[in-house]
Amino acid sequence: MSSRPHIVLGIESSCDETAVALVTSDRRILAERIASQEEEHAPYGGVVPEIAARAHAERLAPMLEAVLNDAGIKLADVDAIAATAGPGLIGGVMVGLVSGKALAMASGKPLIAVNHLEGHALSPRLADESLGLPYLLLLVSGGHCQILSVEGVGTYRRLATTIDDALGEAFDKSAKILGLGYPGGPKVEALALEGNAKAVPLPRPLKGSKEPHFSFAGLKSAVLRAHESGEHAPADIAASFQQAAIDCLIDRLQKALSTAGPHPALVVAGGVAANKAVRGALEELASRHAMQFVAPPMKLCTDNAAMIAWAGCERLSAEPSFAGDPLDLKARPRWPLDPEAEPVRGAGVKA
Ligand code: KG4
Ligand code: ZN
Repeated sequence: MSSRPHIVLGIESSCDETAVALVTSDRRILAERIASQEEEHAPYGGVVPEIAARAHAERLAPMLEAVLNDAGIKLADVDAIAATAGPGLIGGVMVGLVSGKALAMASGKPLIAVNHLEGHALSPRLADESLGLPYLLLLVSGGHCQILSVEGVGTYRRLATTIDDALGEAFDKSAKILGLGYPGGPKVEALALEGNAKAVPLPRPLKGSKEPHFSFAGLKSAVLRAHESGEHAPADIAASFQQAAIDCLIDRLQKALSTAGPHPALVVAGGVAANKAVRGALEELASRHAMQFVAPPMKLCTDNAAMIAWAGCERLSAEPSFAGDPLDLKARPRWPLDPEAEPVRGAGVKA
């Protein structure tokens, strides 16, 4: 391996963002492009898989060309092609992965099949050089809500997950109930600023329970009941919902910390990490436990391709002899970061 930094091209298409980025192993984002599909999905109040796959297919090729142009480099200058291979909406994942395979084949460069969650999990290390391993990671997005111990590149121990809804999903559904539209998280956060977080009594599901798992379905139903009662202003419901969610996060993280052993840093990643109130509460928790706190900048928190390219860089650095994933590798709608994690008994799952 040469001593010059690697350049990795990253492709992300697992949900409703089409994204391409060029990232170096010395943490420079040479170029990145991202196209949101918000407008396409907004009329339906959520992501429609078929529409998403088609939009990825239309946008990806011109974006790949644009990113190479932006960086002023050629495909031949790239050391590897990293593409999200799951988990996610299978049609979209296939579009991105097939594009990655075609580029790898055309250029003779290795393909790196990246787990989207690993992209989120490692993205804080792209943002912050000082962040070493291990760290305690709260991964909170639209599809996932987990606490992980990031022990090494490729080694993730899942300490907790949600037994029903992910937190981003609860934000999105609450936004829908309150008539705020899609995507809901930022809209709930903005409305919450105008409300009283103590005005509406809402539950804190699983607070105090023995294992650090999450549950948000009951909170979402309580938001629906509060709204339907007609007794509360939407801003008060938004603020109270956000506070209840934060109380759950803090309680569950404290539980995880008490069982997982010491971790020098607390890291948050995933779309919900863009929420300033959530960040503030986590920062306070970290300081109480004398832990370093790292939250990547907003653009690295929501879905993006720089985190996929960076996961590729981490893989190349961790495995210098890595020759690439096989080109017949399949896209995976489900792909747990910790295959050893025990299934969780929860809503709809019998003991
Ligand atoms: O990581 P991400 O972009 O996509 C997934 O992999 O799911 O996360 C998107 C999720 C959505 O549920 C969105 O509502 C939520 O992150 N989100 C937020 C905020 N910004 C995005 N939730 C709360 N507050 C925000 N400011
Ligand atoms: Zn994501």
